[in-house]
Amino acid sequence: ALTAELGRQLQLREVGGILLQAATVDNWSEIQNFEAKPDDLLICTYPKSGTTWIQEIVDMIEQNGDVAKCQRAIIQHRHPFIEWARPPQPSARNAKDCMVSYYHFQRMNQVLPDPGTWEAYFETFISGKVGWGSWFDHVKGWWEIKDRYQVLFLFYEDMKRDPKCEIQKVVQFMGKSLDETVLDKIVQETSFEKMKENPMTNRSTVPKFILDQSISPFMRKGTVGDWKNHFTVTQNERFDEIYRQKMEGISINFCMEL
Ligand code: A3P
Repeated sequence: ALTAELGRQLQLREVGGILLQAATVDNWSEIQNFEAKPDDLLICTYPKSGTTWIQEIVDMIEQNGDVAKCQRAIIQHRHPFIEWARPPQPSARNAKDCMVSYYHFQRMNQVLPDPGTWEAYFETFISGKVGWGSWFDHVKGWWEIKDRYQVLFLFYEDMKRDPKCEIQKVVQFMGKSLDETVLDKIVQETSFEKMKENPMTNRSTVPKFILDQSISPFMRKGTVGDWKNHFTVTQNERFDEIYRQKMEGISINFCMEL
């Protein structure tokens, strides 16, 4: 019964035109009325854009690089999702890599809709009929308001290219200052390779009927440019055209390969 109920809670339903998990829809009014305290830190990511990565970085900073303290609980418990109405900084990742990551995530996630073929998923993703809504709306929305609020906008691609520099930005944003050695340690501990092996971040404790990591691991590749292994030339041209239309007037530049 618990399994069935959990399965129901994790399924997608629509609210305000956006597909969200039933548990979120059930508590929508409470979530919508959430008021942040001045020193609350919200991590606001589109799915598959490095949520887990930035969560681990923020906790490592908060714990001054103390690895043992960061092992106190799994990442979902250390940074609960607000949309689960128990008690999210935007981290943006280029749309093409994000689509690829999301496709593989829906293949292994047994409670989200089956993505179907890559060709079919390409259309689903563009139309925004995926959980947590359209990538375009998420990125545009945060980009447009970032200068009006205390928002630190981070790019997955920058975090890959120069993790230390990006982590330093988070440290400053959090009003902290850390020694160089602590900073280096955080860079090391939050690398893809380390986080893939870390049971507190790799989702290995989530049962197989929810996440089947034999289909595709949660810590899959962690790279920039995997889209080149998935997009056909025609899909790529079509995507670029749609991107131009949807992102018109937005001066945001995504790096597509390192
Ligand atoms: P891939 O599927 O391309 O490998 P989220 O946490 O928002 O669900 O994002 C998951 C994506 O972030 C996955 O991308 C995952 O491998 C990648 N990721 C997780 N931890 C990472 C890290 N430490 N460094 C780089 N990428 C990481």
